[in-house]
Amino acid sequence: MESAEIRRRWLRFYEERGHTVVPSASLIADDPTLLLVPAGMVPFKPYFLGEVKPPFKRATSVQKCVRTPDIEEVGKTTRHGTFFQMCGNFSFGDYFKEGAIKYAWELLTGSVADGCYGLDPDKLWITVYLDDDEAEQIWREVIGVPAERIQRLGKADNYWSMGVPGPCGPCSEINYDRGPEFGVEGGPAVNDERYVEIWNLVFMQYERGAGTGKDDFPILGDLPSKNIDTGLGLERLAMILQGVQNMFETDTLRVVMDKATELSGVRYGAEKGSDVSLRVVADHIRTSVMLIGDGVTPGNEGRGYVLRRIMRRAIRNMRLLGASELVVGALVDVVIGTMGEQYPELISDRKRVETVALAEEVAFLKTLKTGTNILDTAVSDTKSSGGEVLAGDKAFLLHDTWGFPIDLTLEMAAEQGLSVDQDGFRRLMKEQRERAKADARSKKQGHADLSAYREVADRSGTTVFTGYTDTSDESTVVGLLVDGLPAPAAHEGDEVEVVLDRTPFYAEGGGQLADTGRIRIDTGAVIEIRDVQQPVAGVSVHKGVVQVGEVVLGATALAQIDVARRRAIARAHSATHLTHQALRDALGPTAAQAGSENSPGRFRFDFGSPAAVPGAVLTDVEQKINEVLSRELDVTAEVMSMDDARKQGAIAEFGEKYGDRVRVVTIGDFSKELCGGTHVRNTAQLGLVKLLGESSIGSGVRRVEALVGVDAYNFLAREHTVVAQLTDLVKGRPEELPEKISGMLAKLKEAEKEIERFRGEKVLQAAAGLADGAQDVRGVAVVTGQVPDGTGADDLRKLVLDVRGRLGQLPGQGSRPAVVALFTVANGRPLTVIATNETARERGLKAGDLVRAAAKTLGGGGGGKPDVAQGGGQDPAAIDEAIAAVGRLVAEQA
Ligand code: ALA
Repeated sequence: MESAEIRRRWLRFYEERGHTVVPSASLIADDPTLLLVPAGMVPFKPYFLGEVKPPFKRATSVQKCVRTPDIEEVGKTTRHGTFFQMCGNFSFGDYFKEGAIKYAWELLTGSVADGCYGLDPDKLWITVYLDDDEAEQIWREVIGVPAERIQRLGKADNYWSMGVPGPCGPCSEINYDRGPEFGVEGGPAVNDERYVEIWNLVFMQYERGAGTGKDDFPILGDLPSKNIDTGLGLERLAMILQGVQNMFETDTLRVVMDKATELSGVRYGAEKGSDVSLRVVADHIRTSVMLIGDGVTPGNEGRGYVLRRIMRRAIRNMRLLGASELVVGALVDVVIGTMGEQYPELISDRKRVETVALAEEVAFLKTLKTGTNILDTAVSDTKSSGGEVLAGDKAFLLHDTWGFPIDLTLEMAAEQGLSVDQDGFRRLMKEQRERAKADARSKKQGHADLSAYREVADRSGTTVFTGYTDTSDESTVVGLLVDGLPAPAAHEGDEVEVVLDRTPFYAEGGGQLADTGRIRIDTGAVIEIRDVQQPVAGVSVHKGVVQVGEVVLGATALAQIDVARRRAIARAHSATHLTHQALRDALGPTAAQAGSENSPGRFRFDFGSPAAVPGAVLTDVEQKINEVLSRELDVTAEVMSMDDARKQGAIAEFGEKYGDRVRVVTIGDFSKELCGGTHVRNTAQLGLVKLLGESSIGSGVRRVEALVGVDAYNFLAREHTVVAQLTDLVKGRPEELPEKISGMLAKLKEAEKEIERFRGEKVLQAAAGLADGAQDVRGVAVVTGQVPDGTGADDLRKLVLDVRGRLGQLPGQGSRPAVVALFTVANGRPLTVIATNETARERGLKAGDLVRAAAKTLGGGGGGKPDVAQGGGQDPAAIDEAIAAVGRLVAEQA
């Protein structure tokens, strides 16, 4: 039976029995205690609590749900998923236990011909809460379930609440016996893989308070009425009705898995590890689509973080499966195809869902590879020094610079046997937040006391800017501050802020950096100007240091800007206008300016775009800009009313405040923009514009960075030199480079695989010899020894486990206790891995104890589990002694 049919039958069954069909609510819970909707009853919570009078006494729904606490189980078990659909029926003070139980039984076991699900009643097992005699009696006497298939369980299993204060009550679960191939007998109390829970009937009659865990909370009192809340997992029932082994093989998830198979080239069923990855991908991509569909976007907090973590897990698993291209788009498409019938908003919103998903994939792929390398190196460094905990600063670096959600780092480290110093990570996160706050505070303080500048304006008026036409100007010092305080005079070495009545210096604004230069005072003093700001509108404050002489308020001055720098900035600013227009032409008006910075010879330009701009589009944009340059278009500026500017179609930066009179900068027939900046006179002055690529700087905002003029030339010239060196190296023409180099990389990969194989064989060869040389210590087969230097921790571990396996297989040694302790020197330090088999452990020989003894002798530490443990130390010369120590301990304990 298809999932859609299961859903239809559910709603029809309850509708026919007087229930109002309520559509699924959004996954974004309208409830401050929840991030996401985890159960079908959430939208009805106010009715249960009596806060709102329910408009109906009975309701039914199929609710979208997301639960992530068991995310690490996804794919490993047959029944854990992060997204599922909960079929529910609800009674608000209407029918209670008997009604709910009777309906459930009828729908599950009634015949398919009658619109039910047709399950075999003999396969159903029931659990009830410890003291719920009433429920048990109904199951036995009214329904006729034999007593041996009814079990009583405690609060953790059979008492349901949302995990937070709110409605709650004892519950009764219906479980389906999937047969002996799924494990031992004994009912759901013994085995929840074989006896899988499909339906939970909650007898919602109490209100709970705050507490921890599933069973530690106070009951505050009765709800206004006795209610029913039930939840049947649609995916779980589909698994049973479709006769498949796990929920990932049901109709709606199987197609996603098939797509993942096609994209990665890995066959489902080929290997346990890759099967888990395929299932993770199917589940997580579906969850991501449903979350994005409901308006969640990836981020670092709250719901955004849940989505980001799920998406990044899926993307990483696709890479583990071997995918090397962008894959999320194709997978999202399949999910929309299979879920769209039930959730048509996914189809109408397809473009947005795809765009958000793709943007996250592109962002993560940029950092995944380097981040993974950093993590791997950190893991092997940690291991080779005998540690078991990855340092918090590594986790922080991965989070901060490489976009690895902390949970992903935890998982990836755990896959390699390490834990992570989470306290250290959290401390660094806190420090970073405090730094950001302090930074914001100090910035504010920089402008906190503006009265000194206001006074200047009150006294002398605002600064006249003459820099559109002049690069130097005569003026008067009308304001002077030393170390932030008004002063009558300043001397050599003083940090000063100078206000002039008129100036050619451009104050930073509109994305254009300030001019630098010199102010010469007629007394011979010189001030080197490094920055110009307008802390108060219209008042240009020149910041710098007095180089020589004395500056007094009221002195006559000659202000001179650094002309070459200004020209380079002007080139960048004009190029920014051209880029803005060319991007709008290519991408439409959504590519509106979101910010920019024009500095000498380079600029960056931020603009709105829901997705990455494809390389080909950028190439076209760059070409267009350079064509415009060669058309020698005049650049002119004109001050006019805002109305006129609008009529002429000038582009204004969103969110900027403009006065009534605005300055419009026009570049020939190509661009017209409101702008207060300084520009070139003609586009030919720009020479060359080179876009350096684009990146994301936040949700929906992209950034291009570019070089202009001689800076662009220098960049291209450098690249040309590199290409020339490469063509020389690989002996091919420039256009052959990509093919040749990728061929070489492929060969290298092959060769590495070959080396890996040889190394594996060598290790195995050593294993046979080592096993043959086992010594008998009081009936225990003991192999100790030192293997060649440079054997890595992973190889050493493999070897030890291989030898241990062989010891059990030697003739007559099947159940003989075995201990294997091997040592090596890696990076100048001793390293050991020790393993014991089960019979040895029964005799008290634990690998962890042996490693601690060995590591103590080596001057280090280590530990692990009783079956295999690892350690290290400082002194390679002590290995013989450590071997002896292990031997002694075995002899003592055996
Ligand atoms: N609210 C109940 C559950 O989620 C039915 O299991």
